[in-house]
Amino acid sequence: MNISIIGTGYVGLVSGACFSEFGFNVTCIDKDKNKIDNLNDGLIPIYEPSLESLVKKNVKAKRLFFSTNLSEHFKNSDVIFIAVGTPTNPNNNKADLKYVFDVASEVADLIDLTDKPKLIVTKSTVPVGTGKKIESYILNYRKELELGKNFEVASNPEFLREGSAIEDFMRPDRVICGAESNFAKSILEKLYRPLNLRETPILFSKRETAELIKYAANGFLATKITFINEISDICEKVGADIQEVAKGIGLDGRIGSKFLHPGPGFGGSCFPKDTRALSEIAREAGSNSRIIDSVIQVNESRKINMVKKIKNALKPLENKSLSILGITFKPNTDDMRESPSLVIVPELVKVVKNINVYDPAGMPIAKNMKEFTGVNWKNNTYECVKNTDGIVILTEWNEFRALDLEKVKKLLNQHVIIDLRNIYKPSSMIELGFKYISVGRGS
Ligand code: UGA
Repeated sequence: MNISIIGTGYVGLVSGACFSEFGFNVTCIDKDKNKIDNLNDGLIPIYEPSLESLVKKNVKAKRLFFSTNLSEHFKNSDVIFIAVGTPTNPNNNKADLKYVFDVASEVADLIDLTDKPKLIVTKSTVPVGTGKKIESYILNYRKELELGKNFEVASNPEFLREGSAIEDFMRPDRVICGAESNFAKSILEKLYRPLNLRETPILFSKRETAELIKYAANGFLATKITFINEISDICEKVGADIQEVAKGIGLDGRIGSKFLHPGPGFGGSCFPKDTRALSEIAREAGSNSRIIDSVIQVNESRKINMVKKIKNALKPLENKSLSILGITFKPNTDDMRESPSLVIVPELVKVVKNINVYDPAGMPIAKNMKEFTGVNWKNNTYECVKNTDGIVILTEWNEFRALDLEKVKKLLNQHVIIDLRNIYKPSSMIELGFKYISVGRGS
């Protein structure tokens, strides 16, 4: 089976590498020539554990190719995945489908009327009804095309997480396929046959259902995080411990223990964008989305509340020097999109005398972001914390979990740690002589 994947962002590149690892011939296509040249030279544009070795292995095996030119690969492709970005349109909070429809017109132009039909599959997160819209768009764009005879459109949303993307793709909890015809079903079945060995559930549904499953999953997970963040606030007021509360409720199989870690609010390229889009999908459909709307609102105020927490712990802040450990929205990624640090750091820059920042992967991107104007970039944790009056941990990178805390103590002017990811045990930190403030565990 020959696959073309359009868009070499997280989803496109990881899917391409993994489908080629399954044994299919895959060409990843992107308009960005520089990106494609780099990929052909073995340079991976994103920080994702194991991706580089998987790409190199499959390029060497001549199963994975990179190109800027869809037309050269189109004829040979049985299936064309759309994996381009669907960012929030700031004017209306909806997912911007410009890139998706650009691909649809390109594909429509390339379809050969005498050839067997092509299956076009959306892997990007797209609003409910987009599959149908792509179908109508193509039929309208090239009137001689016939649905079924020349092409079909299916939905196959992706559930991988940044930082564990390869593992998530190769060992998913489930695969969702929005495909109604036998032609579309049989291609998707073949594509995911390698997962049969692990008995991965492969769910076939209507296209609209598949599209909504993706938003409902992200919306539910964002709600779960927001819920535990709210419970952590209550813990602080009543003297309960959020770690134990999360464990206590998570052991109930109906609730589950995952995604119950409190923190400075969810960020990244998916949850913020997808909760906003889900709210718009509901509004347009004339339905209510009061829970999702609250989640969006509560998550925004969460970041500002974290600033208040830091200010409270270190007041007066004016003449203080602070060190920030971690700025990416989560560990094992260099992705800075909608990271809580983008709200928290600028608020702190306004009041403190000096801010040092260190992140194991996020600094090359963050150095060019206006939100970090005025901070001092440091090369490692110890350089970062030296001579500062307090540490704020914003991202739970593994290397922050294993710090030489005696050394940290010696380097600090004041022994204050504000840990917004709960990576340390309060009792051990107090024993070591720190003023330790974490989330939902008293002070
Ligand atoms: C998320 C979903 O988890 C994936 O299943 C989905 O495929 C992806 O979005 C997407 O739609 O493409 P991702 O954004 O990579 O994946 O990251 P997550 O691990 O889900 O974390 C998102 C945010 O929630 C991070 O800021 C993280 O720190 C926060 N989080 C997560 C918490 O604050 N607490 C938790 O318990 C879990």
